[in-house]
Amino acid sequence: MSIAAPQPKANMGQPVPRYDAFGKVTGSAQYAADVALINPVYAYLVTSSIAKGRIDSFDLEAAKRVPGVIDIVTHENAEKLKEGKLFSNGGYAATTIQPLKSPEIAQQGQIVAVVLANTFESAREASHAVRVNYTAAVPTTTFDSAGTTSAPAKGQFAQFKEDPKVGDFAKAFGDAEVKVSAAYETPAQHHNPMELFATSFVWNADSLTIYEPRQYVHGLKNGVAEQLGIDADKVRVINSYVGGAFGSKGSMTPRTAIVASIARRLGRPVKLVATRAQGFTIATYRAETRQEIQLGARRDGKLTALRHSGWEISSRADPYAVGGTKTTTRLYDCPNIESQVSIVRADRNTPGFMRSPPEVPYMFALESAMDELAVELNIDPIELRRINDTAKEPIGGKPYTSRSLMACFDEGAKAFGWEQRSAKPKSMSSADWLIGYGCAATCYPTQMAPAAARVRLQRDGRVRVEIAGHEIGNGAYTVIGQAAAERLGVPFQKVSVFIGDSDLPPAPVAGGSNSTASTCSAVIMVCDQIRQKLFKAVLPDDSLVDKAKETVGLGQTPITKAAQSDQPVDLAQAFDALGVSVVEEYGEWKPEGAPLDSFRAMHKGQMRMVGGSEMKDKIAYAFGAQFVEVRINRWTHEIIVPRLVGAFAAGHIMNPRTARSQLMGGLIWGMSSALHEATELDERYARYVNDNLADYLVPVNADVGSVEVILLSEQDDHINPAGVKGIGELGNVGTNAAICNAIFHATGQRIRKLPVRLEQLEI
Ligand code: MOS
Repeated sequence: MSIAAPQPKANMGQPVPRYDAFGKVTGSAQYAADVALINPVYAYLVTSSIAKGRIDSFDLEAAKRVPGVIDIVTHENAEKLKEGKLFSNGGYAATTIQPLKSPEIAQQGQIVAVVLANTFESAREASHAVRVNYTAAVPTTTFDSAGTTSAPAKGQFAQFKEDPKVGDFAKAFGDAEVKVSAAYETPAQHHNPMELFATSFVWNADSLTIYEPRQYVHGLKNGVAEQLGIDADKVRVINSYVGGAFGSKGSMTPRTAIVASIARRLGRPVKLVATRAQGFTIATYRAETRQEIQLGARRDGKLTALRHSGWEISSRADPYAVGGTKTTTRLYDCPNIESQVSIVRADRNTPGFMRSPPEVPYMFALESAMDELAVELNIDPIELRRINDTAKEPIGGKPYTSRSLMACFDEGAKAFGWEQRSAKPKSMSSADWLIGYGCAATCYPTQMAPAAARVRLQRDGRVRVEIAGHEIGNGAYTVIGQAAAERLGVPFQKVSVFIGDSDLPPAPVAGGSNSTASTCSAVIMVCDQIRQKLFKAVLPDDSLVDKAKETVGLGQTPITKAAQSDQPVDLAQAFDALGVSVVEEYGEWKPEGAPLDSFRAMHKGQMRMVGGSEMKDKIAYAFGAQFVEVRINRWTHEIIVPRLVGAFAAGHIMNPRTARSQLMGGLIWGMSSALHEATELDERYARYVNDNLADYLVPVNADVGSVEVILLSEQDDHINPAGVKGIGELGNVGTNAAICNAIFHATGQRIRKLPVRLEQLEI
């Protein structure tokens, strides 16, 4: 066995079947709630039926009489936990509404009691027997409800940095030859991952093991430790697989520390599985938005003025906003731009990240408005985007590291057959069906964060990679394995990957589409440390290569010339020369421009994400173009989507097979965000009505026609060692606009409020 030179694209870039495919198909993959506990106690949540007010008293006698019940914990007897700071303000928590602390109720579905029993069934039955006596106040539900307060997002929380602005919008818009002004609305949505919000707790003396589906094991470990007031190293979070997350499992939600403290007191393992309905209120969601866009242009299509304003609902307790204007103000060349994002407070649970947090709602508005402008100008919508394409973002004048937006439009248009579109609305039909073609741009920031990895190479070529990344369906096991196989020149089958455990070297949250870029960059760097060790042992030339491009670790690990050479090194010879049986290396990688405290923060489970529009002298985004065909029945107004085509350029694609799945799922999500998904609110009670998968609409197979994913090759050497831009959140951006643009083309009716329901159509 010899270790070969790195084979560029030997593994990275190959359509390797999923590392975890066998386990998932056979059912041997163990999810958090599958973990068997010894003599467990079952916890069942009781949640409030009011959105605002206070608890006067509990009536627990009937519940306590249910056989098997051990205890019922309420604010009257719960351990008082330390407060958790909000994730978007530098803490760990998804919300600062801390249940079981006082009789105050701040949101519908707030946890008010935890029933503990010897069986799940006992706990559930007893939970229904718990009586809570409230004094209810009238809640404020959403926009236009009495009692909302609105204020600019800027200055309210650390993550919201700017309201981008350049030039003189008011003057330019006043002078514009052609103008579009429009208001858009997007609904509240819930992630609804298939896997429920489950958590199991096992205390061993003063050490706690938590089995919980998470996008960020190091974040949860540190967050729970802080709330329990214990050393973070006493907490371990394990989840080998996550059954869907989409942002809902990113930051710490209140159930975890609460039930952990209960388990500590009980001295027995505790298992909690929240119900689907409870998931709507004990975790986060995508809040509803309202937006206004004004576009001014010359007759020839050149944009001269752009203003984008957004209003987003948040809780009374927390200032949260996704704030997508940082993207929409930078996508097209325009000299005069203004924007503002405001937070509107209501008596709701705190919203949070949901797949492509800002771009899904904000690009809906921008890409709808661009289509409206194209119609006003009588210019093809693709040509309008070409006229306003730019290599530099207009706010700060920073260059895009690479930008293949128009190439995506061209490839997508070709595959879709865009030239067969007759531009006039209502001009295409087939029997009872009006036909519409629509398109929209998609983009998503390229983000990275510090990550650490440990890699062990054995004499027989077997490799073990350890990194606390997360398999949320994204193919993390697979791409991490591919990176190690390539850099160590061993077959993929020889690599074992260990992720999803906070005892492993820390990796960032699996969010913001940064996972592949961050984890693979760390793994590549550490594998190169191993290469260096081996090559040094057997080859005389150990002169250091300068910190340079050829150093794959991006200059952080000096590497010998020999280790970069094509000459294979015999493993046995190298191991003998070193006098060892295994070579193990650990390393910490951080992206260029990461702050000085990055590694310290990484170990504390705090994010230091770099990328997108927030880098000093460049801007990094992945791009794409989406094309849809809609058909609308003249008589019933039924809307179907027979075809979705997406063309994407996102730097180096680590694995075209898993990438295709991601993007295909994204396109379907995108269609869903236009035509299906919406959390309906009962405005009288600030209550979510359709809190189950029967009433919360998601597309089923019958709703999905052909879905075509086109991957453009793109090389970007200015982002990270892996050359990866990230694709997890790219596929579902802009689809909603493309669908509304297609509906306009089919019917002549512009729909600016999502989701589109057939009763909105006036044909
Ligand atoms: Mo994703 S919403 O960045 O977890």
